Order: sequence, then C-alpha cells, then structure tokens
Amino acid sequence: MSEATDMGPTLSAEEVSLLRQGVGLQMDHYGGGRLPFACVEARGLVQKMTALEGPEAGRVFEVIDVSGGYASACLGAGHPYIQKALYEALERCGYVTDEVGSLERSRMLEELFGPHGLWADRFPGSAYHVSGRNSGSEGMELALRLALEHGFDRRRMAPRAGREGRRTVLAFEGAWHGWTGGVVSLLNRRHYRVGLPEYPSDGANSLRVVFLPFGEPELIERFFTEQGSQLAAVIVEPIQGDAGILVPPRGYLRRLATLCGEHEALLIADEVLTFAKSGRFFAMTDEEGPIPTDITVIGKSLGMGVQSTSMVIARRELSVRPSGAVSTSDLRPLTCAITRAGLGYIVREGLLERSAALGEELRDRLRREVVEAFPKLFQEVRGLGYMNGVELSEQAAEGLPKLRRHLLEAGVYVEFMAGAGRRSHGLRYSYPAMRIAPPLIADHADLREVVERIRRGAQAFQAEARR
Ligand SMILES: Cc1ncc(COP(=O)(O)O)c(C=O)c1O
Repeated sequence: MSEATDMGPTLSAEEVSLLRQGVGLQMDHYGGGRLPFACVEARGLVQKMTALEGPEAGRVFEVIDVSGGYASACLGAGHPYIQKALYEALERCGYVTDEVGSLERSRMLEELFGPHGLWADRFPGSAYHVSGRNSGSEGMELALRLALEHGFDRRRMAPRAGREGRRTVLAFEGAWHGWTGGVVSLLNRRHYRVGLPEYPSDGANSLRVVFLPFGEPELIERFFTEQGSQLAAVIVEPIQGDAGILVPPRGYLRRLATLCGEHEALLIADEVLTFAKSGRFFAMTDEEGPIPTDITVIGKSLGMGVQSTSMVIARRELSVRPSGAVSTSDLRPLTCAITRAGLGYIVREGLLERSAALGEELRDRLRREVVEAFPKLFQEVRGLGYMNGVELSEQAAEGLPKLRRHLLEAGVYVEFMAGAGRRSHGLRYSYPAMRIAPPLIADHADLREVVERIRRGAQAFQAEARR
C-alpha cells in the first residue's frame, strides 16, 4: 500500500476542474466545511484521492479508509463477492414490491428470522415481523409511527383504552436518529426543528419528548419512578454514535429494557449505526445474551456499501394502519439478495468475531500511541469492535479542519462525530470524536498502519500549531 506522500499519477486540469464543478453542484450540508479533496477510485480499504486546491491539486495519492462511508461499507469498496452477488441477482431476481411474495426476499427472511435463522434467538419470526426502508432515517420514521399508532385506536381515532396517559417518549441527549421530519423531534437540537410546518396539535395523540443524558443509570431509575406510567416509548442507540461513540456502563441497556418491560413502555433500539460494528450484529447484547427490544432498526452496513437500505424489526402486535407505511422499496428483491450474500460472507469468514478481538487491540494501541503520545490533542479512546472514537481536546476541536487535512495527507481518511457537547445534570462537556470505524475486512496489519498514519497526521498538525 503506498503512502500519501508517494508521488502518484497527476490528473489533467480538465479532470480537476470536473471534480470541482461536481462538488459545487452538490448541496453543501457542512456550512462550507467540506474537505477540499475528492476520491477518484477505490478498492478494498484504499481510496485514491486528490486535493482540489493548492499546489498539490490533481496529484493522486492513496489513503486507507477507516470511515467506511459513514460506517456503511462493511466490506470495503468493490468486494469481489458482492460484485458476483450483485451480478447474479440482477440476472434473475426482478423487482416485485411487497404486494406479492418474492423468492429472493423469502430466502433472506427465512435465513434470518425462520426457525433456524441467524437471528431467531433474538427475533423469532413467530413474534416479530419486518419491513424494509431506504435509509436509517426512514427506518426510524417507521419505528416512531409504530410507537405512535400503538397508542391509539385507529377506528375511533382516539387513545387506545389503557394507554391514554402515555404520551411521553424518552430519548437521549446527543442522539442522532436521522434528519427527516418525524425523527428530528427525537433530537435535542432545537435548530433542526425551527421552521418546520406546524400541524394543529392533536393533544390526545401527540407525543412529548423528554431527554436525558445517555449512560447514567441513576437518571433512568429516577425517571421511570417519576414518569414511567406516562411513557409510550424509549428510543436509544445502544452505543451513541454522533455524540462521540459513547459506550454505556455494563448493565445499563439490560436495566433499561427491564424498566421498559415493567412500565409497559416500548423499547426502540436504533442500531442503524451499530449494526455489525460492535463485534456482533447487534449491540443490544450483553453477557446474558440478546437484550429484548420491541422495535429494532438496522441500516448502514446492511446495504454492504453498495446500496442504502434499512430494516425495521418489530413485534407482531405493532403495525401501522393499512397502506400507512407502504414504500416502493420495502425489501426489494435485489436489496435482499445483496444483504443475504453479504451477511453470509460475514458469518462464514468470522469477520465479526475478528473485529471484536482486533478492535480491542486497536483501542489499546490508540490509547498508548495516540492519546498518551499527544495529550494536548486527544482525551480518551472509547468503543467496541470496529466502532471506535477518540475524543479531541478543545485545542484539537478548534483546529478540526486542519487536523483533518493533515490526517488525509498522512494517508488516512477518518470521520469526526459532533460530540454530545453541553450535557445536562452537570456532566462534562463532550468534544467531537475522531471515529475509527473501518470496514470489517480491515486486518491486523491494516489497523497497525492506520494508527501509524494517525500519529503522523497528529504530529504534522501539532508542528503547524506551534509555528
Ligand atoms: C444512529 C443512527 N440512526 C439513524 C441514522 C440515519 O441514517 P441515514 O443517514 O441512513 O438516514 C444515522 C446516520 O448516521 C445514525 O447514525
């Protein structure tokens, strides 16, 4: 694997100009903070990048990707097994919608939820049913709707007998569940909601969202004691991603599930990001085994990096009114074929087990060789499996665009999570975190090289800051 500093081929002025024009034509969701780089080719973990500005513009260099495309490309780029599966599926599986059955869809569902299915211990098909969506956000929208409709009688259009007083949803500070209209109400980020259309308040059925800091056991105990009888649902990321890869203390998620059970509140796990990332398929797991949920939403890695898809797995008694959640892309046969092939490959190759062990080693190395070596830049390492975060210091957070540039120039592409910021209950400010969430194909040598390159990038950033 060549390093970023190696001289690579150089693009023509027209090619660089085309790349710049493309960036200009795409909406900027980063307030001018997009990186002035572009990818021209990718294979496995390696992305061929070029700078779009400055004296190096047009020079192609290679970086190791540990972003996985917002942690979605679990098998890296252009995986031969997925290429083959895609080609074969295109040849034969067609495109029927959920109005009729599909052989490809049935194969996948049976292998996952059937009596001997991969996930039958957690989601037996006799107790759960499934729907497919295009994205994590859409999956969370459906989860929210399932929770909402569970609370009222569709015929009478009034609260369902016995659940009249349950209009509260518990969500967590710093959470990210997507950006679409329904789920923004689950985020404690007021600026996302400003200006949204307001519907006449339907007092009887509208939900009220309450936020607590994540991972604080005493706070949930107190909350359930005081407000448990008013709870309709709890929505939780088992490891908070955007908040900076926050792993809850041992026993926290199991206790949350128990409290939900005792208080008859639905537990919704947002595993869009954690799916296949924590050394297991589901992060709602502890030493006792699966932690029960009423609804689980998975996404990102489910699409194997070649398609955007999500799945909502819900208890059978939870459903939405007829045609209320129809989607053109609900478990499309092609999507099912790719998911099935990719999951089969992950299981056969033991990639999750390997990521659990290598992830531990990676965090250890990050602790010793990055955090302890650059105490002015980094605070701590957190994570599980291949979902890891290194929290920045205030100084590094302030220079984030420069740090990102130096890391790319050192040959590693990482993403940064916003961090939970100011939290309530006197908890400390949480700065952004460098997310190291490589595709599952990353092996021991790749991860060693990643840490080495992060060190080089941090060194260059620190040297520039001193000048
Ligand atoms: C925990 C979580 N939920 C939901 C989403 C939304 O997924 P998507 O971007 O596919 O809509 C994300 C995306 O980052 C996420 O991290």
